[in-house]
Amino acid sequence: MTSQGTTEPRVDVVGRVLPDLPDPAPLTTHGPARVIAMCNQKGGVGKTTTTINLGAALAECGRRVLVVDFDPQGAASVGLGVSPHELDLTVYNLLMDRHADIADVVRPTAVAGLDLLPANIDLSAAEVQLVGEVARETVLARALRPVLDDYDVVLVDCQPSLGLLTVNALTAAHGVLIPLECEFFALRGVALLIETIDKVRDRLNPRLEVDGILATMYDSRTLHAREVVARVHEAFGSTLLHTVIGRTVKFPDATVAAEPITVYAPNHAGAAAYRQLARELVARGDAA
Ligand SMILES: Nc1ncnc2c1ncn2[C@@H]1O[C@H](COP(=O)(O)OP(=O)(O)OP(=O)(O)O)[C@@H](O)[C@H]1O
Ligand SMILES: [Mg+2]
Repeated sequence: MTSQGTTEPRVDVVGRVLPDLPDPAPLTTHGPARVIAMCNQKGGVGKTTTTINLGAALAECGRRVLVVDFDPQGAASVGLGVSPHELDLTVYNLLMDRHADIADVVRPTAVAGLDLLPANIDLSAAEVQLVGEVARETVLARALRPVLDDYDVVLVDCQPSLGLLTVNALTAAHGVLIPLECEFFALRGVALLIETIDKVRDRLNPRLEVDGILATMYDSRTLHAREVVARVHEAFGSTLLHTVIGRTVKFPDATVAAEPITVYAPNHAGAAAYRQLARELVARGDAA
């Protein structure tokens, strides 16, 4: 029982006191953008869902956000209402043609303040075609440079691999967010991912930081999910973000509707979770 006049501190799922996460202050000017790569070579862990919904939540607080679809599957493009097979120009053209203009490729989405650099299956050829290029790891960084001053945050949705495209994303990035599904084998592969991030930091991009590990698809009814998050906390400490994304069918439903959850079900707990993630990243200094 809580005695009158005292309020229990709010805690996260591993029992840490939840800091105050105020609504981000409005911005009067924009840019230069902080580039965040959404990365995990394991498939289906919530990279695309997090890119779309974190992007939309940041846009809701007045941030100018660019989502870069960097997966040939084009899931982020589809999720933001763009049909990838009808596209003439995609991020692929920017990578392969130094004279392509990014302004011709970026498109607005239905969410105010949220733009998209789309991708489609063409991008699958880039990995092979770039192998013989000079400075093949820095091609995305070069392609994004002309628009960095127009945005506050650029979110790069990586494909589930640690190949050349992902290395390009890590080379272009200031920070990495690692979504981790709350299931038994979640931690498998994270060591390899961290090793890759360390190599990119040593050889290509000294500023690269791990911004955080985000537990996704958390089912509060199972002891198992809590155990997984506890293990992640044991292994990675404060790199584990306070915000946890619950498992709910509203996310796949929102994908089918091609809308962020903040638009599709704005009052749902899933929308609240991504808004909290946006506030947490701003409070940590990982987003503008
Ligand atoms: N919190 C959640 N609760 C329930 N389902 C979710 C949640 N997050 C994502 N999903 C669903 O899980 C599937 C995989 O999610 P998502 O596409 O975001 O993962 P991904 O890491 O981008 O996958 P890939 O590695 O294939 O690119 C999708 O169908 C998505 O709608
Ligand atoms: Mg994806």
